[in-house]
Amino acid sequence: MLTIYINDLELEVEEGSTILEASEKIGIKIPTICFHDRLTPPGLCRQCVVEVEGARVLMPSCITKVREGMKIKTDSERVVRARRTILEMLSSSTDLSESPDLLEQMKIYKAEDGRFENSSKRNFKVKDDNPFYMRDYSKCILCERCVQVCSADIQFSYALTTAGRGYNNRITTFFDRKLPETSCVFCGNCVAVCPTGALIASNEFNVKALGEK
Ligand code: SF4
Ligand code: FES
Repeated sequence: MLTIYINDLELEVEEGSTILEASEKIGIKIPTICFHDRLTPPGLCRQCVVEVEGARVLMPSCITKVREGMKIKTDSERVVRARRTILEMLSSSTDLSESPDLLEQMKIYKAEDGRFENSSKRNFKVKDDNPFYMRDYSKCILCERCVQVCSADIQFSYALTTAGRGYNNRITTFFDRKLPETSCVFCGNCVAVCPTGALIASNEFNVKALGEK
């Protein structure tokens, strides 16, 4: 066991725990986006950052392991500002209208939608190439959960992948093939882990579309 301090509270945690796990143990909630408790944490979004005494940069709590004597602040002004900026960057490039968790975080961190006025939301045509689910990548935050679940974390199908860089970074299939032409077995795991409504069962999509008419 190791002794650490979170927001000045002393606690004993098992060696090998992450800061996120240690915080949960004493009921301190740290917001996450890309983290999913059944998947290997990709450490992509940085929404879970915390301040660690002596560290130059903020540390992602979902992948940072505790060390003896570590002093951690989970809600300092610097941490709050970083989380707010991440949310503002996400909302300036992505349609978050179907992401209840992110909308809630925007409220909590007083993040301004449209703060980066020179950027525009990415706009992709909805991909409707199979009877089971739709892919609306205008709502995709690139958390890569779908890619992970489709590959070595769960399904071993390897139908989904990432492509492009920067603003062009996107989720796609190999060679951008339609899903029925890939190794996809339509297990639905990617839809289950998608936090934003970018992947949605076709019948649910159609019901929503009817409701909007
Ligand atoms: S489609 Fe969904 S699960 Fe996949 S990267 Fe985008 S937001 Fe994440
Ligand atoms: S939740 Fe930790 S980096 Fe995304």
